[in-house]
Amino acid sequence: MRILGIETSCDETGVAIYDDEKGLLSHQLYSQVKLHADYGGVVPELASRDHVKKTIPLIKEALKEADLTSDDIDGIAYTAGPGLVGALLVGATIGRSIAYAWGVPAVPVHHMEGHLLAPMLEDNPPPFPFVALLVSGGHTMLVEVKGIGEYQILGESIDDAAGEAFDKTAKLMGLDYPGGPLLSRLAEMGTPGRFKFPRPMTDRPGLDMSFSGLKTFAANTISANDNDDQTRADIAYAFQEAVCATLAIKCKRALLQTGMKRIVIAGGVSANKQLRVELEALAKKMGGEVYYPRTEFCTDNGAMIAYAGMQRLKNGETSDLGVKAQPRWPIDQLKPIAD
Ligand code: KG4
Ligand code: ZN
Repeated sequence: MRILGIETSCDETGVAIYDDEKGLLSHQLYSQVKLHADYGGVVPELASRDHVKKTIPLIKEALKEADLTSDDIDGIAYTAGPGLVGALLVGATIGRSIAYAWGVPAVPVHHMEGHLLAPMLEDNPPPFPFVALLVSGGHTMLVEVKGIGEYQILGESIDDAAGEAFDKTAKLMGLDYPGGPLLSRLAEMGTPGRFKFPRPMTDRPGLDMSFSGLKTFAANTISANDNDDQTRADIAYAFQEAVCATLAIKCKRALLQTGMKRIVIAGGVSANKQLRVELEALAKKMGGEVYYPRTEFCTDNGAMIAYAGMQRLKNGETSDLGVKAQPRWPIDQLKPIAD
């Protein structure tokens, strides 16, 4: 069985074809980063318009790359939320309409479930159960995962998501949008120990997180110091160190609380090398293992939507003819799939 996945929840148009026996057959991605860079962040209306232009050509490319035609596709998965409503509506409307035209079922997919399951596309997929740290531009949460759709949120950010804090701090430092990867690159030249940032909400029990204070701390550190290249790199280093250390402390608590050994990290910030290093060290100390997607599947992509959609399709979950776009959609509202 083959499914075509469509992702348009934010500023990336992603399309992929997944076969439940052969795995991923093709994936195409168009990033709108350049379009939004001048504005320092995603402009929702521009994002929607660009998805309108790019989605169908990418579907054609994905079919061509896999050497398939529409007759070979058994279902269409599209991201139904959470995300920007206009952007979601583009993928949802195209996905639902193509499914109707091709006479196949349409499957609405939860974007964060897509991220959570992205490591399943790798050669060494994580066995259930595990603790998932989902760290993207819009969400930061720790989830106890017992199976597909069996999600219990253990804790989440009460303000900015980790990726959002990276992007806002990068902007304060004059870096382009999205600043997360650029800040991380700058931090590689930073001097350890010159600045020390706090580890928010680690001095009290619980698994909730907060990152907006780190951005303010960065703003104050920037204005109290010279703006030379080394200082900027040192501030980037201290900021990244604080985010990663805080996430690692919360992951350790989540493992102890659940008695689990496996950690899955997914979402854009899971591409961060420092975070991977910290969590690998934690897992080693605790006799566990860390799993993450290949770098290109950490950020938004169609492959994770095709994979998650396939699991839901095999479970008989298809939509009626309505177009489903749900900008807010808590992940713990998803249904477990039957064994
Ligand atoms: O998952 P994603 O592509 O989109 C959302 O669903 O939000 O995540 C994008 C976020 C952005 O905030 C971006 O700056 C961040 O992931 N990001 C990183 C890195 N690569 C992407 N943050 C820190 N270090 C990175 N290497
Ligand atoms: Zn995402």
